[in-house]
Amino acid sequence: MELSVTRRQLEFIRSTAFETLFGGAAGGGKSYAQLIDALIFALQYPGSKQLVLRRTFPELKRSLIQVSLSLYPTSIATYGETSHRWKFVNGSVIEFGSCDSENDVTKYQSAEYDVIRFDELTHFTKFQFTYLLSRVRGVNGYPKQVKSSTNPGGVGHGWVKARYIDCLVPGEEKDGRLFLPARVQDNAFLMKNDPDYVHRLELLDERSRKALLYGRWDLFEGSILASFPRNCMSVCRRIRFPAGGNGILRSTTDWICWRRSGLRSHRTARHGSTGRYTAPG
Ligand SMILES: Nc1ncnc2c1ncn2[C@@H]1O[C@H](COP(=O)(O)OP(=O)(O)OP(=O)(O)O)[C@@H](O)[C@H]1O
Ligand SMILES: [Mg+2]
Repeated sequence: MELSVTRRQLEFIRSTAFETLFGGAAGGGKSYAQLIDALIFALQYPGSKQLVLRRTFPELKRSLIQVSLSLYPTSIATYGETSHRWKFVNGSVIEFGSCDSENDVTKYQSAEYDVIRFDELTHFTKFQFTYLLSRVRGVNGYPKQVKSSTNPGGVGHGWVKARYIDCLVPGEEKDGRLFLPARVQDNAFLMKNDPDYVHRLELLDERSRKALLYGRWDLFEGSILASFPRNCMSVCRRIRFPAGGNGILRSTTDWICWRRSGLRSHRTARHGSTGRYTAPG
């Protein structure tokens, strides 16, 4: 079996940071890098356990699972249609999972993994991510890592940006975190075989073009409310803050709720970072 990877994909595979984010343009080779990296890890560390997550199972099935079926060698691994797991002859396991609602994280209660991989990290909430971090553990002495890939945008855009983009220099690990920017032009395989792909991205509306073609994270600056999808807004409408006292704003969604309910907020609540709000009266 012979596989080639791009320079960026190699950096992702080689990253030893506890948290690595491969983020940016659509088609930069992020998901493919996750699958190759998972395969290498599984072969390198016999008996290792990895979890590959997308927010919903249908997304997982038509993307990562499908690609893994065409990529992973069936001479050394078997895929279980019901368990959604690749089992390798050396005892390693790559499990595919989803985490649709906030409470779905409990599906992974008491499980342990050497590596957890989030594909489309900005589709997850900070609560889900933080909870699942606690599932990265074990006594086998193997590296313990969280590896994520994503486009900008999505419900978790704010917290992902605050965690990896605003405070890190791309390519430089700091406090156990590494951000690797993804550009579609870096994916020589796609550029060669589908040279019109970039032109199709150019036809997108301005904000989608910014996110998917240029992989830019400054999507929502200046117009936060306008930037959220309708389903997000309808979720917001159903959330109620307590009538008085203090609380914590945990997400951009909370921030929108604050806007709608007329409460006063600490400035840091903007763009999804944590801040306090104070209810009037
Ligand atoms: N190393 C590689 N060798 C061969 N093909 C590759 C390689 N890396 C990526 N590709 C192909 O390039 C295309 C885009 O890759 P991929 O789906 O990983 O991009 P992505 O960054 O995850 O895109 P999106 O942001 O849309 O999810 C896919 O068809 C994939 O199979
Ligand atoms: Mg992808």
